[in-house]
Amino acid sequence: MNTIIVNTTNLVKSFGKVVALNGLNMQAPKGISGFVGKNGSGKTTTIGILLGLIKPNGGNATVFGLDCWQDSFEIRRRLGVMHEINAYPGSFSGRRFLEHVAKLYGVSQVNQTVDALLKDVGLAEAKDKPIKAYSAGMLKRLGLAQALIGNPELAILDEPTANIDPLGRLTLLDKIKEMHNNHDTSFLIATHILSDLEKICNWLIIIDSGKIADQGNIHNLTEKYSASIYKVEVSNPQLFVAAVQKLGAVDRVWEENDKVFCKVNNPEVFCEQIPKIVIELKLQLKSFQQTLGTLEEIYTQTVGEKRR
Ligand SMILES: Nc1ncnc2c1ncn2[C@@H]1O[C@H](COP(=O)(O)OP(=O)(O)OP(=O)(O)O)[C@@H](O)[C@H]1O
Ligand SMILES: [Mg+2]
Repeated sequence: MNTIIVNTTNLVKSFGKVVALNGLNMQAPKGISGFVGKNGSGKTTTIGILLGLIKPNGGNATVFGLDCWQDSFEIRRRLGVMHEINAYPGSFSGRRFLEHVAKLYGVSQVNQTVDALLKDVGLAEAKDKPIKAYSAGMLKRLGLAQALIGNPELAILDEPTANIDPLGRLTLLDKIKEMHNNHDTSFLIATHILSDLEKICNWLIIIDSGKIADQGNIHNLTEKYSASIYKVEVSNPQLFVAAVQKLGAVDRVWEENDKVFCKVNNPEVFCEQIPKIVIELKLQLKSFQQTLGTLEEIYTQTVGEKRR
């Protein structure tokens, strides 16, 4: 695994009687990490602690190995952040605001940097309008530009693509990927839009009621939660379905667009039996593969039961 850059141990935070974080043990390595969980599960609270804006009641949180409360100034110097709800100076133009932030970060070529960022996030045309005239999606774009100023080591984005139209979302996701590839910027992205994460993340953190429901490399999680469904293409699907239905290793069989799907309870036995059936029935086997779970399946299996 890559170097861990965000780490929390038994993190606890209460607001009066509300326990927002209840022993959170979270790790995010270098790379692009998705942070998902239901409304009120504790994502924004966690981010507030990582930024040194909220003091935890117990436990420990580090970013870049530095303590989030003691060393928050140093941490914030090295990261960019896009808050869930941002307050901007409404009378400033987007460009003027970003130039201001760039100067605070000590960026050397302020005008070029800001112009390039505005173009990348799709705000080039609106850059001279006052921010108070920006739409909800335009404000999100401005927030992303702000978070990326100064090529931070880590950008923490709280709901970056909410309110952004589908094509705009793709542009922003491309920008995130490009920042990761070209500048080695890591991302921690809290979102409800799982399809966005599927496109860019290599790590997923699932929080539920202030605790980690599961976390890990997307590929490993996908395998872990994959529904053990196999997709088979054969020359005579109907004949194949009739034979597979009799196998004890198979819970359910169905046909879709000439492909046969088998929900399997014993993959080892199933994989042994398939060649035998194919030979016995003199079928031609065109393809045979295990389908992997989607992020939605992982999410539903980790926090789903409590949803109802
Ligand atoms: N300042 C606060 N005062 C009181 N309660 C708070 C405060 N901030 C958060 N909470 C409570 O803590 C819990 C976690 O909230 P948090 O905002 O961290 O959730 P979230 O995962 O970001 O949710 P969402 O997906 O809706 O953004 C909720 O029950 C919320 O009501
Ligand atoms: Mg939130």
